[in-house]
Amino acid sequence: MSEPPYAAGLAPGASSPGRGAGWVVFGAGGHARSVVDVLERLGEPVVAVVGDAGGRTWHVDVLADEVDAIDRVVADELRAVVAIGASDARLAVLGRVRTAAQLARTGATASSPGTVLDVTPPVVAATATVAAGAELGAGAVVLEHAHVGPGSRVGTGAIINTGAIVEHDCVVGEGVHVAPGAVLLGAARVGDGVFVGSGARVLPGVEVAQGAVVGAGAVVTRFVAAGCTVVGVPARLAHNPLVRGTRS
Ligand SMILES: CC(C)(COP(=O)(O)OP(=O)(O)OC[C@H]1O[C@@H](n2cnc3c(N)ncnc32)[C@H](O)[C@@H]1OP(=O)(O)O)[C@@H](O)C(=O)NCCC(=O)NCCS
Repeated sequence: MSEPPYAAGLAPGASSPGRGAGWVVFGAGGHARSVVDVLERLGEPVVAVVGDAGGRTWHVDVLADEVDAIDRVVADELRAVVAIGASDARLAVLGRVRTAAQLARTGATASSPGTVLDVTPPVVAATATVAAGAELGAGAVVLEHAHVGPGSRVGTGAIINTGAIVEHDCVVGEGVHVAPGAVLLGAARVGDGVFVGSGARVLPGVEVAQGAVVGAGAVVTRFVAAGCTVVGVPARLAHNPLVRGTRS
């Protein structure tokens, strides 16, 4: 698992001093709606959402063009959060926003974690709790009533969704989605791009490897290999990308 830049001990709202007032939310679907609500409850103004509104009505500007939106973030010194449900797309857009902000700030390509956290800080809902000593990567979001316990590390662009619990000393990779009400018990490890379905539980110390999918309501009692899908209580293999015929 790679080591993204982390911000430790964040208060709700994850302040980023020096940026202009306002956020651009990349994404215009259901998850974006939740993230806009989280920001507004924190008193953080949302300037625009970016993407296909898909028939949803918005009370903020809807920008169709990602490049224009990134230009606006840079020019107006806004902050950005990428609220796209699909992990690959979320990380790709986050990378483009960070790179553009980086280049605008330094004129160079060298990585500067300080700038990354300034433009795409983690967002922590007002009713969420992040324990002292827990660490959140750039662009991670912790939605309403969720909890991240002490000693846990949450990777870049991860979603800890509404009411989800990441107990103490967990490691959560880049782009992970812990869906509403899911629980990672103490010292569980989930690799980059893992999806943990709503209400699922990963038992203490158990590892779910990169790109795996845990079905809603599953109880994961033992190691899940990369790219596999598991469902049920206890969780059983439903799909292994390396084994023909395991797609259920
Ligand atoms: C596990 C999951 C990813 C599988 O999706 P899928 O590949 O499209 O699978 P299907 O819906 O085609 O179902 C395939 C089989 O698995 C079963 N199944 C699907 N999800 C299951 C689950 N969570 N637990 C137990 N069985 C499940 C289906 O009943 C079906 O069984 P059958 O072949 O006997 O009829 C999906 O069902 C799931 O649980 N998604 C999580 C949704 C969620 O939490 N979203 C949060 C959004 S914020």
